[in-house]
Amino acid sequence: METNHTPRAIAVQILTQILLQQGSLSTQLNRYQDQVASEHQALLKEYCFGVCRQFPKLNSLALSLLSHPFEEKDTDLYAVLLLGLYQLIFMKTPDHAAINESVEACRALNKAWATKLVNAILRRYQREGNQLLDNLTSMPSVEFNHPKWLVKRYKKHWPDQFQQIVAANNQHPPMCLRVNLNRVSRETYLSELGKLGIKAVIGIHSRSALYLESAVSVNQLPGFDDGLCSIQDESAQLAAEILNPNVTENLLDACAAPGGKTGHLLETLAQSSAKNSKDESIAEGKLTAIELERWRLDKIESNLARLGYSAELICADASDINTWWNGEYFNKVLLDAPCSATGVIRRNPDIKINRKPADLEALVGIQQTILHKVWQTLKPGGYLLYATCSLMPEENEQQIAAFLASQSDALEVDLATLNPHLLKLFSDDQVDPLGKKVSHGYQIFPRTEYQDGFYYCLLMKDA
Ligand SMILES: C[S@@+](CC[C@H](N)C(=O)[O-])C[C@H]1O[C@@H](n2cnc3c(N)ncnc32)[C@H](O)[C@@H]1O
Repeated sequence: METNHTPRAIAVQILTQILLQQGSLSTQLNRYQDQVASEHQALLKEYCFGVCRQFPKLNSLALSLLSHPFEEKDTDLYAVLLLGLYQLIFMKTPDHAAINESVEACRALNKAWATKLVNAILRRYQREGNQLLDNLTSMPSVEFNHPKWLVKRYKKHWPDQFQQIVAANNQHPPMCLRVNLNRVSRETYLSELGKLGIKAVIGIHSRSALYLESAVSVNQLPGFDDGLCSIQDESAQLAAEILNPNVTENLLDACAAPGGKTGHLLETLAQSSAKNSKDESIAEGKLTAIELERWRLDKIESNLARLGYSAELICADASDINTWWNGEYFNKVLLDAPCSATGVIRRNPDIKINRKPADLEALVGIQQTILHKVWQTLKPGGYLLYATCSLMPEENEQQIAAFLASQSDALEVDLATLNPHLLKLFSDDQVDPLGKKVSHGYQIFPRTEYQDGFYYCLLMKDA
């Protein structure tokens, strides 16, 4: 594969696909990023993530500068224009360089006819930009830098948390590590980081979380290749703490890729087996992980290989249980369902471009089907943890309300009753709460500098 493309050319290609609703940013980056030399990949990501993160603002501005929008066949030119504006407003690129590179990008696309137009628009922004932006700030999409429909929903569902949510969604996410407590204590790992000059603080909710003061490449993290730590948000780390599997249990991770929680469940299993027999390897084979997409299943495989654990990995539709289930019941199931990801927009900022209200209905249907089907594989007396990284009640508490109403053998378990640590996290009388107990389950809100938005509800099958 050619790796000598410029980050701008590949960013334009990726952004064009996203604007045309052809897949997500993570899928497109996975597909194209190797076409850029490794030393330029950070810049490629900055371009792509930056334009998506600032899209509502950039889009309103670009539309106000154009006398009429580009035709669909010229979406690549629109991507060039958005990237040029992003550089002018948010990057330290000198103006003349941003404008010249944008003009050259039109030529590289064999659309030299657009050079004058792009040049004129970017120069007009240079002259009048601040005034133009001021004129647009009365639009909710520009004021909050989110699509209007999402602003409305966040305000409606979470009026008290609205400002916190949009502020967190608009920022670069913090880099959070999960320390593999089988191999090293969090304090020792923190001091190893300190010796390398990597500043970090301890997460207060998960026992394995560390937040880095600034992001570093994983190659700089001590023992990363040997599985001493993983990159995982603190809210996501609570899944394994809640399910707390032990070595005697048969586990299912129903929607598993890229395997963050699979790895953590295996670490927890290994800890339990080490306590019982000093043999970490007993954890192997106790966990089945299902994932619909093959390329994402490969990510689980490489994640587990790095951690030194294995599990039964199956590429299948979790709801089509006849294709993958051997009839042996699971004691514990994690269903980290596909969702709107409206609690993790800072990590998936293309949601600001692509997510539409109609997607929610479809996702609710998919979640419902998987939940009902996977429930059949759970042993009576067993537990299913339903999780999403969504802030939308229809995917969370309402989904569970409908499930409980239709499934007579399902009982909700209060997360705060599981152990003293979780009591501290999930009871409602916290001074500085993670989130909020809702009609069913617990809603965590994203927070600048700290955790992502998440939802958990633990269900037990009546024995
Ligand atoms: C929220 S992500 C899971 C994240 C994962 N648990 C982790 O911690 O790394 C949801 C995953 O479910 C997969 N998925 C979607 N529909 C599915 C289905 N019907 N069966 C199995 N997996 C599915 C998606 O491809 C995606 O990888």
